[in-house]
Amino acid sequence: MKKPIIVGNWKLNGNKELINKFFIPLNKFLEKYYKKSTVVIAPPILYAAFIQHIFSSNKRNFFIGAQNTDLHSSGPFTGEISPSMLIDVEVDYVIIGHSERRLYHQEDNESTAKKFYILKKENLIPIVCIGETLKEKRDNQIQEKCKNQIDEIFKICGSKHAFNNSIIAYEPIWAIGSGRSADPEEVQRIANFIREYIELKANSEIKNFFIQYGGSVTPDNVKQLISQKDIDGFLIGGASLQLQEFTKIIKIINQMYS
Ligand code: 13P
Repeated sequence: MKKPIIVGNWKLNGNKELINKFFIPLNKFLEKYYKKSTVVIAPPILYAAFIQHIFSSNKRNFFIGAQNTDLHSSGPFTGEISPSMLIDVEVDYVIIGHSERRLYHQEDNESTAKKFYILKKENLIPIVCIGETLKEKRDNQIQEKCKNQIDEIFKICGSKHAFNNSIIAYEPIWAIGSGRSADPEEVQRIANFIREYIELKANSEIKNFFIQYGGSVTPDNVKQLISQKDIDGFLIGGASLQLQEFTKIIKIINQMYS
């Protein structure tokens, strides 16, 4: 059975105080769970080195993620962070194409696909966010929207196996931070569409490919969501900042998997 993958996206939240309170107990908690599930926290990137330092002499039971990357490896790109810098501070997973980056930073399918390509080249694991707006949902365009976002990655990567060793986070934009998660059965239909579409293009089963759901995941709705066959884990915003909520979610997922 696949190991579920649970990623906390801290977005623009957190500080040293929270990090000091959060990670030691999380790490202890994960002693019991890390073999059965992969847990990643993506803090604002400047804190990655701080977290890495806290665990420099202790075993770390979770991975560190980033919320973005630049396409270049170095040079005159003020304010950017490169994939090799992420590797330097022990980041393994990188979220790209989040709807908030698309909305506030003019990122699109093409720039996201280029980032996907670079991350794969550097052996980092991309978590590429896709999903529809409420209007697109109402207009029955969910599959088309997801298909376009996926197609651009196939096009830029130029390989039918582009999605090996990667994660797609299906995040309906209207569900993010709204307190209203998508209906689990509907998420299953879309996750299944995504998996079959990618497998069809790859002409075979793809390896180490995961589909996450993101959008108002809480301890109350996670059980129903993880029961769906094609959901392999979650990209969690708000609840990943609350240690109790986050560990409850991990516990529930593990109960369902054991
Ligand atoms: P919420 O869990 O706060 O809805 O955020 C989801 C998200 O955007 C994760 O990337």
